[in-house]
Amino acid sequence: MPRLIRAALSKSGVGDPARASSGVDVVGDIAIVRLAEFSSPEKKKVASALLSELKNVRVVMEQEGGIEGEFRLRKLRHLAGERRTLTLHRENGCSYRVDVAKCYFSPRLSTERLRIARQVKRSERVLNMFAGVGPFSIPIAKIAGASVTSCELNAYAAELHEENDRLNKVERLVTVIKGDASELPRATKSKFDRILMPHPSEADRFLPTALRMAKAKATIHYYRHVLGEDEAEAAEGLREELSGLVPDAKCAVRKVREVGPRWLEMAAEIRVRA
Ligand SMILES: C[S@@+](CC[C@H](N)C(=O)[O-])C[C@H]1O[C@@H](n2cnc3c(N)ncnc32)[C@H](O)[C@@H]1O
Repeated sequence: MPRLIRAALSKSGVGDPARASSGVDVVGDIAIVRLAEFSSPEKKKVASALLSELKNVRVVMEQEGGIEGEFRLRKLRHLAGERRTLTLHRENGCSYRVDVAKCYFSPRLSTERLRIARQVKRSERVLNMFAGVGPFSIPIAKIAGASVTSCELNAYAAELHEENDRLNKVERLVTVIKGDASELPRATKSKFDRILMPHPSEADRFLPTALRMAKAKATIHYYRHVLGEDEAEAAEGLREELSGLVPDAKCAVRKVREVGPRWLEMAAEIRVRA
């Protein structure tokens, strides 16, 4: 169990820390906790303890269930502090306005985002098919100086992405297309050197579109949630899926993070043929 929850539990005096289901995500000044095992008064006590433990936190929300729907949203309930879901989050030298109830955002992907931004060369044209409020696209523009086209179906997330482009002074490098990634070939005639597909529950459906948008020798970053006892088993599962979708491409596969019991988020770097 994460240290922050353990500290708040022992401070709140609600008993056995082993009952807490999982961690706390801090997005800007909003802490999001999962406390399904606790009664309502216990949840309030833990939330008040978190508010006093975490000096930068002004709001505590409970996440009920998983991340769901087309826009990949959390179902949130207010527990303590101010009543709002909009915040400013800082990560990898960039700032993001995020509404944690109306847009997808996970602080757990910050290392992955930096890893990708560091691979990109200034001369590349990058497409991010599922951009959210911009946390993959903006560091690519800011760190690598490359031009990025972002696509996002959630109109409010796309609006915040454009606001975040200005906030980070990359609006001349980043273009946001508001709409469905499967319509991209109609929205732009451009082809790309690098394509990001950070939508692990649905990416397979969009791989044919990504291949249409790719230049020869392009790299596609393909993310998937894969069932497996360990990284080796999940890697095998992902390779098997890809052998049906892109039979003759080279793929390097690795683990990004654990997302649930026996579920791993995996990444494949697909090298498109010349
Ligand atoms: C897992 S989230 C990742 C967002 C962002 N890359 C991040 O890391 O914060 C997937 C995103 O894809 C968006 N999305 C879902 N279906 C889409 C589609 N058909 N076309 C474009 N975006 C879509 C969702 O609204 C969501 O913001």
